[in-house]
Amino acid sequence: MLKNTKAHYGSLAKFFHWIIALLILCMLPFGYLMSGHALVTVHKLTGLFILTLAACRLIWILFNPHPRLPDSVSRLEKIAARAVEGLLYVCMFGMPLSGWAMSTAFGSFPMVMGVALPMPFVPVDRDWAMTFENIHGTLALILIGLISVHVLGALKHYFFDKDQVVQNMLPCCNIKENNVDARKQV
Ligand code: HEM
Repeated sequence: MLKNTKAHYGSLAKFFHWIIALLILCMLPFGYLMSGHALVTVHKLTGLFILTLAACRLIWILFNPHPRLPDSVSRLEKIAARAVEGLLYVCMFGMPLSGWAMSTAFGSFPMVMGVALPMPFVPVDRDWAMTFENIHGTLALILIGLISVHVLGALKHYFFDKDQVVQNMLPCCNIKENNVDARKQV
């Protein structure tokens, strides 16, 4: 099943979720620890790859229903979960865009196969570079906080609520149809 339904995530939505999650989880420590031109180049290109994946993911979700949380989840928790997801999307775009803008403003454009890729409309300017550097660093801290809340929420669903919310996003698990049917949708 490629597409989402109102109850299930489809395989493409799961693919986008896990590949982007994995890459971002590697990029965060990498960003703090990297040193040397080669590693910074890897960081920049991986970041641009994440940006491309995020754009594809956004297009895909526009054409797919969003599986709803079960009735057992309180209204407040639903609002909090959706707010965290929304902010994760902001960071998913904000991190690579601010990194790309920072590199452009510093004049150290990312290179793909010998072709320089400056961000359009961003001048080479030290003040701009410092501003984007601050944004990149601040978004990284916000992203770490959001990922922590998101993962804690998932653990709560899995271990305490024992509903099917986490299984619905796991690549290996197909939710049993009768479980889904039993789950009231809102
Ligand atoms: C999801 C994508 C990205 C993540 C999660 C990420 C994460 C990080 C983190 C955590 C840092 C360290 C921040 C700090 O020291 O305060 C960093 C630094 C940096 N990032 Fe990214 N980044 C991403 C995308 C990009 C992109 C697309 C570029 C450029 C095209 C880029 C260029 C840089 C550079 C040049 C630095 C070093 C800045 C310095 O010298 O202090 N990043 N990144």
